[in-house]
Amino acid sequence: MMDCTDRHYRFFARLLTRHTLLYTEMVTTPAILRGNRERYLGFDLREKPLALQLGGDDPAALAECAHIAEDMGYDEINLNVGCPSDRVQGGNFGVCLMKQPERVAECVAAMRSRVELPVTVKHRIGVDDLDRYEDMARFVEIVRRSGSDRFSVHARKAWLKGLSPKENRTVPPLRYDDVYRLKQAFPELRIELNGGVLTLDATEEHLRRVDGVMIGRAAYDNPYLLAGADRRLFGDDATAPTRHQVVKQMMPYLEAFLAEGYKGHHVTRHLLGLFTGLPGARAYRRQLSVEGPRATDARVLLDALQHVPDESPVETAG
Ligand SMILES: Cc1cc2nc3c(=O)[nH]c(=O)nc-3n(C[C@H](O)[C@H](O)[C@H](O)COP(=O)(O)O)c2cc1C
Repeated sequence: MMDCTDRHYRFFARLLTRHTLLYTEMVTTPAILRGNRERYLGFDLREKPLALQLGGDDPAALAECAHIAEDMGYDEINLNVGCPSDRVQGGNFGVCLMKQPERVAECVAAMRSRVELPVTVKHRIGVDDLDRYEDMARFVEIVRRSGSDRFSVHARKAWLKGLSPKENRTVPPLRYDDVYRLKQAFPELRIELNGGVLTLDATEEHLRRVDGVMIGRAAYDNPYLLAGADRRLFGDDATAPTRHQVVKQMMPYLEAFLAEGYKGHHVTRHLLGLFTGLPGARAYRRQLSVEGPRATDARVLLDALQHVPDESPVETAG
């Protein structure tokens, strides 16, 4: 998610869950091919497993970027066919590409010809008037012929005109049944559901009907949700860390980041939601928002922790 799942968030999220697949923000092909590669693609190996999400519509450029990403150690390449922002529409990629399934197939085929990694597609259930279940099924049918066998489906359509990107994540209704139906129609494909999933209970419900669940906003706004994932969804019995333990584990990371001359806020902003719903959460959040940007060392985290009681590790978070 743009401006959310940067490398600092991912490092933090990985302390909460070892097994959940994490995604980068969308990175466009020109940014990679002409921009500062370390800035756009750099990551810490401890973030793995990690999927790079690419934005673009040029098969050759996408293939080159996928190749670079494979060399750098990413675990998956995901093509964005879901974003409706004006900038993305101007570049003819994101959700506009749902209107050009052959083009998406070409992009996927080009990437697959250059890398061994899985190449997956994130799309919506529809766009503008192309919003019947049959339209989405046709899109998937055409794209899968190019060899992609995993599709993450945001269970709402997008309107290219008239709705902002934010409204396109709230206004069109969620149509989970269309995603379930897609799984039934393509049992050999891995179909993942996305959109409006707020808890691990809901995740487990969906997992009866689809192969995977992608959680966006809830994993960012209430990141401790992820702490229950390993045990409940991946069968890992290791005890999840407490919120306090996680904050303390972030201290050396923040310290190293500050030592390189960066502003602490780039790291601390991702921790603001960690105590969501608990007593003291607001004071913790306020302290970290005010002190994070002017932090000179990692004690800023310990100071914020004073506002929130320590608790026992999660058993069934979410
Ligand atoms: C701030 C923000 C940035 C996002 N950036 C991306 C992005 O870069 N790529 C993408 O595929 N989806 C992006 N999304 C959409 C989410 O991945 C997801 O599809 C959508 O929010 C619905 O899932 P959720 O209800 O679990 O959040 C973004 C969403 C938000 C709120």
